[in-house]
Amino acid sequence: MKGRLLKGLLAVVGLSLCALLMGTAAPNDTAPTPPGKTTFYKDVLPILQNNCQSCHRAGEVAPMSLITYDETRPFAIAIKMAVLTKKMPPWYADPQFGHFSNERKLSPQDIRTLVSWVDGGAQPGNAKDAPPPLNFVDGWNIGQPDRVIEMPVAYNVPAEGTVEYQYLVIPGNFTQDTWVRAAEIRPGNRAVVHHVIAFIRSPESKWMRDAKPGEFFVPKKENQQESSGNGNQGNANQQQSNSNQQQRQDRRGDLGELLVGYAPGLQPLELTDQAKLIKAGSDIVLQLHYTANGNAGSDQTRIGLIFTKEPPKLRTIQLAASNPGFKIPPNDPNYEVKSQVLLQETVTLADLMPHMHFRGKDFLFQVIYPDGKTETLLSVPKYDFNWQLGYQLAKPIVLPKGTRIECTAHFDNSANNPYNPDPSKEVRWGDQTWEEMMIGFFSVTVSDTKATAASLMKPEKPGTRTPPNQPNAQQPDGKPAAASSGGTGSTSNQQ
Ligand code: HEC
Repeated sequence: MKGRLLKGLLAVVGLSLCALLMGTAAPNDTAPTPPGKTTFYKDVLPILQNNCQSCHRAGEVAPMSLITYDETRPFAIAIKMAVLTKKMPPWYADPQFGHFSNERKLSPQDIRTLVSWVDGGAQPGNAKDAPPPLNFVDGWNIGQPDRVIEMPVAYNVPAEGTVEYQYLVIPGNFTQDTWVRAAEIRPGNRAVVHHVIAFIRSPESKWMRDAKPGEFFVPKKENQQESSGNGNQGNANQQQSNSNQQQRQDRRGDLGELLVGYAPGLQPLELTDQAKLIKAGSDIVLQLHYTANGNAGSDQTRIGLIFTKEPPKLRTIQLAASNPGFKIPPNDPNYEVKSQVLLQETVTLADLMPHMHFRGKDFLFQVIYPDGKTETLLSVPKYDFNWQLGYQLAKPIVLPKGTRIECTAHFDNSANNPYNPDPSKEVRWGDQTWEEMMIGFFSVTVSDTKATAASLMKPEKPGTRTPPNQPNAQQPDGKPAAASSGGTGSTSNQQ
């Protein structure tokens, strides 16, 4: 009943939106095809191919396929609603800032075509008018991989309960330095896979060395007391908490490098003139997040890799500005957390990806150039945890050494957040979705193939600035020059 009312309401909103759209059409726009003349094969299918089928086909992330007329027809009304409300295709960047090559957006003309098709009775038209179907290679969006790495064992997900993040070290058997220009993760069972991240663990990294290759592994939890914090924070407790934070940060420095991830909305890795380096002797470490959905299920995920024949001129490497030290108070509707890094080398910035969990509300990426000039690169005003989107810069930006990247996030820990599992809880950093994260991932390209995350950037206390008139104020010893209190006065900025 309620559902129907809502749908009715949506229809009204949709109609008036539609009227608005038509009313404001620029005079030199081609006139919309009259309802009844718009057909599936001639007008609608090309739009679906270009904007929808990457997700809406069998075996992909969307719940229904929009490949054929018969598959699409039942969703005609839903399609009209979804495109008028801009719910589909999913895209969350504020158009005021930045231009992105992977932007998903329908032109006003495309929207008019879809609406006019639905309003005209969703006619099939003549199948002879159809464009040739898109070629999808055996499920791989990146094309035929040179190598497929499959989980050597399946994970059995129970019907109910919480599954801790699982890690799986897969011996890489890379006998030489290998350059990857494309990578894609194909979950074995999408019903239970929430997300997967594949990391490259270089031979010198100590990360996850206590995990036996080929066996699922759950890292030891940090001091459990810490997360029970309920106001009664004595000095000892505080010290404990600080040292845990330190451990956490030390460990953060020795993570593997992110190779590719899988989550709704996330695109596979596809590079054109660059590649990611997998050093000889590296292993692949999978971080697997499974969610129980009422039915037990088992998963055996695969990763497809495409290599470059020649070493590329440029190396792509993923970095992050994160802040693991926050405590979001109960019921706070707009808690701010910032993170900041200082670039140690000149790099070219290629893409950005905010990451938070259920309480994530908005996310901003800004750069502060060495001369003090500030630029907003990406603003996601309404973050939606269900969509993990990466934003690829249409024109990569050169960031000189000494540039800072600053991320600002807000969290809604109030009862007004429909995803909030418990507004009465203080929330800290943690793997599970009811805990929080604050990570601004970004990829850079560099010509130095030996570069590492540590050689390229240094985490800083948020708010740190070098006064522009004192170029020598930059500290060689890694200590922030000066912590200005500038900004919001929020208490969240402890690193
Ligand atoms: C990045 C992947 C992706 C793309 C691209 C995409 N969709 Fe979806 N779509 C989804 C997923 C996942 C769902 C189900 C979850 C949801 O509704 O949020 C969905 C749901 C829908 C629904 C269900 C109705 C609703 O409002 O819940 C419609 C209709 C739809 N998509 C139409 C389209 C159309 C039309 C396009 C192209 C213009 C498109 N989608 C592009 C992933 C995608």
